[in-house]
Amino acid sequence: MIEYRPLRIALLGAGSVGSQVAKLILENKAELAARVGAELELAGVFVRDKKASRDYEIPAELLTTDSDSLILGADIVIEVMGGIEPARTLILQALNSGSDVITANKALLANHGTELFDAAEQVGAQLYFEAAVAGAIPIIRPLRESLAGDKVKRIMGIVNGSTNFILDRMDSAGLTLEQAMAEATNLGYLEADPALDVEGYDAAQKAAILASLAFHTEVPLEKVYREGITKITREQMAAAKRDGYVIKLLAICEAIPADELGGEAGISVRVYPAMVPLEHPLASVRGSFNAVFVEAEAAGSLMFYGAGAGGIQTASAVMGDLVSAAKRHVAGGPGLADSVHADLEVLSISRVKTRYQITLEVSDQPGVLAQIANVFAKHNVSIETVEQSAKMIEAETVAWLEIGTHQASDKDLAAVVAELSSSESVERITSVIRVEGE
Ligand code: NDP
Ligand code: HSE
Repeated sequence: MIEYRPLRIALLGAGSVGSQVAKLILENKAELAARVGAELELAGVFVRDKKASRDYEIPAELLTTDSDSLILGADIVIEVMGGIEPARTLILQALNSGSDVITANKALLANHGTELFDAAEQVGAQLYFEAAVAGAIPIIRPLRESLAGDKVKRIMGIVNGSTNFILDRMDSAGLTLEQAMAEATNLGYLEADPALDVEGYDAAQKAAILASLAFHTEVPLEKVYREGITKITREQMAAAKRDGYVIKLLAICEAIPADELGGEAGISVRVYPAMVPLEHPLASVRGSFNAVFVEAEAAGSLMFYGAGAGGIQTASAVMGDLVSAAKRHVAGGPGLADSVHADLEVLSISRVKTRYQITLEVSDQPGVLAQIANVFAKHNVSIETVEQSAKMIEAETVAWLEIGTHQASDKDLAAVVAELSSSESVERITSVIRVEGE
């Protein structure tokens, strides 16, 4: 029997995600009430244009352009508008009046998370954000709750679906970056500003959110190292495949112990394309799917996989937050803030070590290999593998060298590349790419 009063839900936004959230609340009323122990009453839906056509036809009387009246008196506010303003102001308004807030807005959380979480804590409200990272995939709650008693060592995620689609088409169909991007655009996968996807900004926002939860540390977005996929070529993709790898845009969050840093422990949060061995679970994440691979001290390796975007899929994550928030209202008690007690240093990329693969076109002369090996040694970069092949180009034999390194710092590797670029023995550096997941 349902004894608790109906809970008033304010929905801000009715686009791809919001219209599906409205549908699920309105069509599953009885089932939701039974699960929560209170009716969930959709009090109204804030939009820009009440006449716009929507994926789900929301009853006209629920649509409003008056956010103030809607937020006033709402028990739970769901923000699925996107962008920084007015979303930020409306969320603060809702939290300051004691409502719990659910948001799917990774850009807002990555840029203004501290302000929003502080506002929630002040009044004992809670901010939920399962949908902000990797759409339908449950990853926030596992980090926030299920792994709260463990120690996360490393997260490697494919958290941007459109770039995974682009790289997958380059890998599986041999398309150029431009051709694959055109396909992604036609399918509506890219953000209105494609740079958010292809330059890695979207993945960096998600990495900042994951790292702050995993390592109990505030992670300002500007401390996340970011490279996009715009320099990846079809040739690099084919070469990686020949060697048993695939190139993926990875969001990596890593705890680096004190003994490796020669000082205090820190964390590294970084986004870049990297070669991943075909046998790694992330290598088989195809198309626009997302996956997050978590390594924790006690749990070992865990893989979370599924749809990282899509209106109805993302609405599933929002609904999970809605049921949690509503149950907390019924049970009573203040919201629980996330812990940021660890306050670890977010390390600059120059202090992080990874393996690299460098491909060079060199003149096929005695002593060239030794000269090149010397450059690596001079800058403290240890070579792990060398493969050489020869080709005739315009009646001249050109040697191709594929050099795999042991773990090397970004700074040392950059020095090697700079010196090789000006070396007379090196015709061309055709690829410099990191190797992850081995
Ligand atoms: P849409 O652009 O499809 O929808 C945005 C909605 O917000 C529209 O209904 C729009 O109103 C409303 N809106 C925007 N600005 C205003 C404003 N200034 N005043 C009033 N209403 C406004 O966005 P999505 O549904 O795709 O995304 C929503 C959020 O979910 C974003 O934060 C996004 O990053 C996140 N997200 C989206 C995913 C997806 O697959 N789409 C996946 C994961 C997260 P109107 O309809 O009248 O224009
Ligand atoms: N642009 C994002 C992606 C949408 O491609 O994954 C989901 O956040």
